Amino acid sequence: MRTPEFLLAPMDGMTRASFRSVCFDYGADGATTEMIQSLAYGRARKPMSPTFLEVLARYPNERNLAAQLIGSDPAAMAESARRLEALGRFDAIDINMGCPARKVVGSGNGAALLKTPERAVAVMEAVKAATSLPVRLKLRLGWDGAHVTAPFFVEQAQRLGFQSVTLHGRTREQMYLGAVNIPAIRAICDGTRIPVYANGGVTCAEDALTFLRDTHAAGVAIGRAALKSPWIFEDIAALRRGETVKPRLAPERVALLIRLATLTCGHRPEGVAICEMRRFCGWMLAGLTGCEAVLTRLNGVVTLDAFRALLEEYLDALARSDDLDIHPELLPRPTLDTVAHRQARRTAKWM
Ligand SMILES: Cc1cc2nc3c(=O)[nH]c(=O)nc-3n(C[C@H](O)[C@H](O)[C@H](O)COP(=O)(O)O)c2cc1C
Repeated sequence: MRTPEFLLAPMDGMTRASFRSVCFDYGADGATTEMIQSLAYGRARKPMSPTFLEVLARYPNERNLAAQLIGSDPAAMAESARRLEALGRFDAIDINMGCPARKVVGSGNGAALLKTPERAVAVMEAVKAATSLPVRLKLRLGWDGAHVTAPFFVEQAQRLGFQSVTLHGRTREQMYLGAVNIPAIRAICDGTRIPVYANGGVTCAEDALTFLRDTHAAGVAIGRAALKSPWIFEDIAALRRGETVKPRLAPERVALLIRLATLTCGHRPEGVAICEMRRFCGWMLAGLTGCEAVLTRLNGVVTLDAFRALLEEYLDALARSDDLDIHPELLPRPTLDTVAHRQARRTAKWM
């Protein structure tokens, strides 16, 4: 039996190289870039914008990294796959057939392909023919509960010699809410030879192992839980060795945030990078005494030096009062689904 793998799932605006690199430090077995619009990328004539360069960046510690394409035009998808392969930077090409955003499905892309099987298969065939890199598929169970079409697409992926499939166990109709359909994922895993990575709803390392066991998958792809706790990959490895999960104290959290900020500043203007760190600070400092005041002060910080100084000052204060651990009663209670919805409101992409 293959050793199960635990991958970082693609997340638009989140899983850029700097965040992925941090997850790889914690032992992620692989990752996927956020989705790349094939119509824009496959036809681009101008030099790439800094944002695009960042999306396509790769750190040396990243292994098993796929670049994800989204689109429904087979020619543009094929051309994008060729361009990505020519960069010589990625280990695989991943096709997005799961994005539920209204704007995306409205133009026939992402999860909309689940409703247009002929076009979807044409896209899969075109990408496969265009590249010698392994090709992967990421999809949802189906458009809605009455149309669970994933088995057909998994069969097509197997027929075309795809490397693997990542299966989000919800339908498009469910967006990011509601129960993940474990029996449906298991039936698909049991019925195919292609490795299937189960995805959806993992909140902690214990969850990931239960999900793996219950779905019979080849591995698990973890999305939102990794945003709050990138150390989840290390926790999973500890549990698999029969050890317990160690608490993540303030010094580790602060060091991680400073490292992530430093990496992110290497890709975009300092003020923008530090501003984007606020959401990671909100997630990773939650539960520490006095974190709200620090988060408020962070709103006025725009340089890496000031970011580092503020977090180090906070850490000193916690250390002086011997209060470095997380207090569960101080944790806010947003669910992972709320994380998606906050992001949705911000980017208007995920509703
Ligand atoms: C903010 C956000 C952005 C996402 N962007 C992508 C994307 O670019 N490509 C993709 O295939 N899935 C994307 N997803 C879906 C995730 O990869 C994953 O399938 C979903 O979040 C369920 O897994 P989770 O419960 O572990 O988060 C995104 C999800 C979120 C929350």
